[in-house]
Amino acid sequence: MKVSPSILAGSLCRMHSTVAAMDPSVIDLLHMDVMDGHFVPQLSYGEAYVAEIKSATDIPLDVHLMVSAPEKEVPKYFGLKPYNITFHIEATAFAVRLLCSIREQGIRSGIALNPGTPIAQLKPLIPYTDLFLLMSIEPGYYGQSFLPASFDRIRELRDMAPEAEIEVDGGINAEIGAQLAALGVDILVAGSYIFKGGDVNGRARTLKGL
Ligand code: DX5
Ligand code: ZN
Repeated sequence: MKVSPSILAGSLCRMHSTVAAMDPSVIDLLHMDVMDGHFVPQLSYGEAYVAEIKSATDIPLDVHLMVSAPEKEVPKYFGLKPYNITFHIEATAFAVRLLCSIREQGIRSGIALNPGTPIAQLKPLIPYTDLFLLMSIEPGYYGQSFLPASFDRIRELRDMAPEAEIEVDGGINAEIGAQLAALGVDILVAGSYIFKGGDVNGRARTLKGL
């Protein structure tokens, strides 16, 4: 199981040195929450800040776009060669085309789903998707509580897409992380748990049960 710290919960102005001190043997990915103040209420950062973080680390980037009209935003991240680019199913009517355009760049294609969107909507996208990001909170802010209905949603998706990479995002701590590992989740995103505990590498290790 991989761990992907959501840097939104850390100090964005000190992130260059925070990231440089991360141990790549425990921190597998860096979760970059791009928020446009439109699809979600808050504005966070864009491609210039993501490029800045990339210059500080070899840890692959996990780009989570919480933006309206993702077809305009997705190509801005192609040059950064992240591990994946993930956009929201709720934000576009052209998910298949966009997923294919990400794959054509040699980047893993990701689709994210809000807690209120039925899992069945993902079915037609399975052939085009490398990674499914299930939100276990409403997107927009870090520090919210994990929604328990997410457990059933993860089981449903695991049955529907046994081969796909499943990532879960929102309200994850060590206890919930262990339950998600047992369900076969591949990537855990954690913001508050990792950045509000003092020891970033130590918290990532605990999350992985090490
Ligand atoms: C919410 C973001 C999440 C969030 C996770 O809009 O997509 O990645 O920062 O933070 P925690 O782990 O604190 O819920
Ligand atoms: Zn996220």
